[in-house]
Amino acid sequence: MTKPEDPNRVLLFDTTLRDGEQSPGISLNKTEKLEIAHQLARLGVDVIEAGFPIASPGDFAAVEAIAREVEGPIICGLARAHAADIERAADAVRDSQRPRIHTFLSTSDIHIEHQLQSTREDVLGQARAAVAHARALCDDVEFSPMDATRSDVEFCASVLQAAIEEGATTINIPDTVGYATPLEYAAFLRRLYELVPGLHDVVLSVHCHDDLGLAVANSLAGVQAGARQVECAVNGIGERAGNASLEELIMLFRTRSADLGLHTGAESTEIARTSRLVSRLTGYPVQPNKAVVGRNAFAHESGIHQDGVLKERSTYEIMDARSVGLEGNDIVLGKHSGRHALRQALEELGHRLDGAALNHAFQRFKEIADVKKQVTAMDLEALVTDELRGQAAVYEVEWFDVEASTRRPPHATVGVRTPEGEVVEGSFTGDGPVDAIFRAISAATGIDARLREYRVGAVTGGEDALGEVSVVVELGRPGDAVKTDIPGVLDGERVTGAGQAVATDIIAASATAYVRALGTAVRRARVAAEDRVAAGTATP
Ligand code: KIV
Ligand code: ZN
Repeated sequence: MTKPEDPNRVLLFDTTLRDGEQSPGISLNKTEKLEIAHQLARLGVDVIEAGFPIASPGDFAAVEAIAREVEGPIICGLARAHAADIERAADAVRDSQRPRIHTFLSTSDIHIEHQLQSTREDVLGQARAAVAHARALCDDVEFSPMDATRSDVEFCASVLQAAIEEGATTINIPDTVGYATPLEYAAFLRRLYELVPGLHDVVLSVHCHDDLGLAVANSLAGVQAGARQVECAVNGIGERAGNASLEELIMLFRTRSADLGLHTGAESTEIARTSRLVSRLTGYPVQPNKAVVGRNAFAHESGIHQDGVLKERSTYEIMDARSVGLEGNDIVLGKHSGRHALRQALEELGHRLDGAALNHAFQRFKEIADVKKQVTAMDLEALVTDELRGQAAVYEVEWFDVEASTRRPPHATVGVRTPEGEVVEGSFTGDGPVDAIFRAISAATGIDARLREYRVGAVTGGEDALGEVSVVVELGRPGDAVKTDIPGVLDGERVTGAGQAVATDIIAASATAYVRALGTAVRRARVAAEDRVAAGTATP
């Protein structure tokens, strides 16, 4: 891509489907990736990094489908600095109207010595060859010196010089391990501009990880030093602590545009919908106090703040909830609301439900309205999200019994519907009611799993709030208690899966979240096994 004519335009490069998808427990299938990519196009991002095509046939197919179907943004495929990776990325993005290859190679001595087991000289030559090869296949090529911020700046500059000579159109400077501070990061970029004058003729990009909570601050510092592309992910997901959060960057440039003098091309009212979609499909909940998209981001708790906002919004609000597409937590429906009112309220929230889907949602709405006096927009969102998660579920909880008392260990019995439609039963006496039901589910399905994460939250405040449960499980064979007959799992391999569920009863929500997490993990194991067969490294 050539540099935009407007020097104040900051390009948004979204890597939710690549770096974001590398978060533990996330496994998106092609349809889910396409849905997210279409929504990112509606949000107005400039570049979608759709995946890492050489990683697996599934990744390749998803990048190819996005390149064919999603119009507007540049569609980018990631490739290591190897000919085979670059060719695979080129094949995957070929059908996009605006294809890009993003190739990367480490430049820090730590990586060169320990990971690549190479030398600076070889890295320089390999980077040059990789960019030249990519440019022969695609006009738009991005190059990243991985672990740039821990590299010797002069060596990094010589690699960038070579990349630019070979035709790279965007140079991205990753703070791969999230170690830099804003002043250091900006100084690093300024020094690169001094050492490589050709950097002024390409788009300089920032890619910051959040290990020290500085990803957005570092990205801003980079932009203030001259970068005009920010790499980021929806809800800040990504390797380890994640990437800079897309929604925070959009609102930062919008809210402070008068002072920064910069802007993006985003349609900010699509932010909330994008965030909810990614949370639902990845199973990664958004923390309540998350900037911009957390459910408390626009809530005022203290009396003084509420008083101020009632008198004049700007006393305590720097952004309008409507500008990010969040309508707040207004009461929309009550116990006596009918199907028509529910349909209309859902439509206002951007969900069109008809026929059987509406009937099912109405039935669940009535169950909630029986327990809760007031059903809010947030409750409805949670309900719809839960309905959609349920449609994608592999296993379903049909019924359960839990006996819990302070005098006997809790005992659970469950009936679980399998993908084949059979209802299998299991029982277990556990350490607590949730432990008992999780183990009863494992006994019923024959799938043993370790519980990696278990979180319970409330959708809204109040005693009658809906409970929201998030579970991450791990299948696999580290050589001890976990069962060994899970199809597709190799010795030593770790397969994780995440699931979320919402219900008025926490035990019910926990059981449903657990079977959804199991379903995700099993699906991932199957996809990995199929990919191995397709790649010729395993037999069917
Ligand atoms: O963090 C990183 O260095 C990356 C590169 C592939 C750009 O994600
Ligand atoms: Zn990264």
